[in-house]
Amino acid sequence: MSRPARERVPVPAREPARVPAPEREPASGNLRVAVAGAAGRMGQAVVAAVQGAEDLTLTGRADPALGTSLADVLDDADVVVDFTRPDSALDNALRCVEAGVHVVIGTTGFDVEPLRSAHAPAGHKRANVFIAPNFAISAVLMMRFAAEASQHMAGAEIVELHHDGKLDAPSGTAARTAQLMQGDVPIHSVRLPGLVAHQEVILGDVGQSLTIRQDSYARESFMPGVLLAVRRVAQLEESPVVGLERLLF
Ligand SMILES: NC(=O)c1ccc[n+]([C@@H]2O[C@H](COP(=O)([O-])OP(=O)(O)OC[C@H]3O[C@@H](n4cnc5c(N)ncnc54)[C@H](O)[C@@H]3O)[C@@H](O)[C@H]2O)c1
Repeated sequence: MSRPARERVPVPAREPARVPAPEREPASGNLRVAVAGAAGRMGQAVVAAVQGAEDLTLTGRADPALGTSLADVLDDADVVVDFTRPDSALDNALRCVEAGVHVVIGTTGFDVEPLRSAHAPAGHKRANVFIAPNFAISAVLMMRFAAEASQHMAGAEIVELHHDGKLDAPSGTAARTAQLMQGDVPIHSVRLPGLVAHQEVILGDVGQSLTIRQDSYARESFMPGVLLAVRRVAQLEESPVVGLERLLF
């Protein structure tokens, strides 16, 4: 038996792949975002995420590896996202606030206290600071569950595991988790090639234990949180605000 002839559906001509321009003219009303540490592992992911967001425009990439400094990008930005190094994040943030530019900080391993008294000078726009030791929703939930569990279990320890290029130990996430938990919580740090960002909170009590584990397998896991902070930083009622949970719950 011969098959009925199939109707041929015309195939639409393929649109050429859209290659995002590295820096675009801001669409009117778009938030202008510059990335500090733009050549780094996290910075590159943030650049791509900002370029992929319809309501944001990438206006600058600051990184000594690109031959550009923060000063080069400040004038054109409403918000700076900082994923640099523990020894440069504070200075970068203070310079953003002085210039009246909001700053979202993902860099870990530096003292945030001086940011509590940072204000834009008279005549400049007020600028807010948002800091999160971890922008992944699963990490925020892990910290929340660990804080809750520590109220009911006798003891706890944290094991945090990261790639071997990470400069600070313990990680900002582990330090923040311990701060949110009851009691003295020791932290163990593992640095190995192949890892991204992982943490186990192990709680023990008589004849039982509970392990809460979180894994970031790719840097994209942090991007929804980073973009949320970029969109919300201008509306913060206080500054600095620490922790993605402050925007989520
Ligand atoms: N908050 C989070 O969710 C989260 C997630 C992952 C990593 N981190 C943190 O982000 C930071 C960056 O991590 P990474 O893996 O991308 O590091 P990386 O070493 O790959 O990148 C850092 C980049 O910053 C650049 N840099 C150094 N000084 C600078 C300055 N003054 N101005 C502009 N750029 C400068 C470096 O040249 C480099 O390209 C670390 O502190 C890390 O712990 C935070």
